[in-house]
Amino acid sequence: MARRKSKKPPLPIPLRPSAVPTSNASLATTTTTPTTPHPPPKRPKLSTQKLISTYHTLNKRLSHALTTNNMALATLIRTEMSALGGLNAYQRASLKGGSERQGLGASGTWLVSHLPRTPMTLLDIGAVSGTTYAKYSFITPTYIDLHPQHPNILQQDFMARPIPPPESRFDILCLSLVLNFVPSPRDRGALLVRTREHTTENGLLYIVLPSPCVLNSRYMTHERFIEVLRCVGFGIVEFKFAKRVAFYLFRRCGGGVKGIGKIECAPGKGRNNFCVVVDG
Ligand SMILES: C[S@@+](CC[C@H](N)C(=O)[O-])C[C@H]1O[C@@H](n2cnc3c(N)ncnc32)[C@H](O)[C@@H]1O
Repeated sequence: MARRKSKKPPLPIPLRPSAVPTSNASLATTTTTPTTPHPPPKRPKLSTQKLISTYHTLNKRLSHALTTNNMALATLIRTEMSALGGLNAYQRASLKGGSERQGLGASGTWLVSHLPRTPMTLLDIGAVSGTTYAKYSFITPTYIDLHPQHPNILQQDFMARPIPPPESRFDILCLSLVLNFVPSPRDRGALLVRTREHTTENGLLYIVLPSPCVLNSRYMTHERFIEVLRCVGFGIVEFKFAKRVAFYLFRRCGGGVKGIGKIECAPGKGRNNFCVVVDG
């Protein structure tokens, strides 16, 4: 007799704009203080991957709510994010997911295998581990993150980091699983443009992305991603597809920034919406 599959417990349903009041008036009716106090909601137990993807979804919805000035919705989404454990829980899941996915430090190993053994400076943006480049004595790393998880990491928003003078620019900039974390296509483009302003002439830009961003998006392909980077002023040096992530190494080249928009380059059902838009 066929065995019945054991049912997994249901996952919390992330907030959808349609399920959430959009005006303060309707919010007021749904937030009436209950007569009997409820205990604080228990943090849902999600798998590492589910927590990461739910956080990304909420982060995108938050960005949309803020852009459309829907502050009531933004507040509700922030509450949902805190219930998951906030950025802290997301970063811990990323660290765990990274080591499950590729062995801790594997993305650093791939980058270093393409570098000459000459002294160089490196800026690791969105660094969670704080020790990725510690064993390479020819690299002087600077680690930054919005919410540091390690004493080596400076608390800093890269988008607010002042543009350095040419002599203080970095030989290498790293964006490992950061571009896909940024919620909107335009903000991703702005992030890439800013990396150029922090990189030495002929400096390198290292990008790690979940493979579906370039293999299963209706708005992005591997070729288009290389084209996007060319518009920002970086030429492709090397790339590699590992099991679940794609590694890209680019070199800064001459020319200014050119705009590139959103086009449906790989239509089809079941695709994701990863996209990068660069304003010209
Ligand atoms: C998925 S984690 C990546 C962790 C790590 N680099 C890795 O490869 O596993 C994304 C990180 O990017 C950070 N981040 C996103 N935007 C940032 C910004 N503008 N400045 C600094 N850090 C940022 C987030 O705080 C988060 O810790």
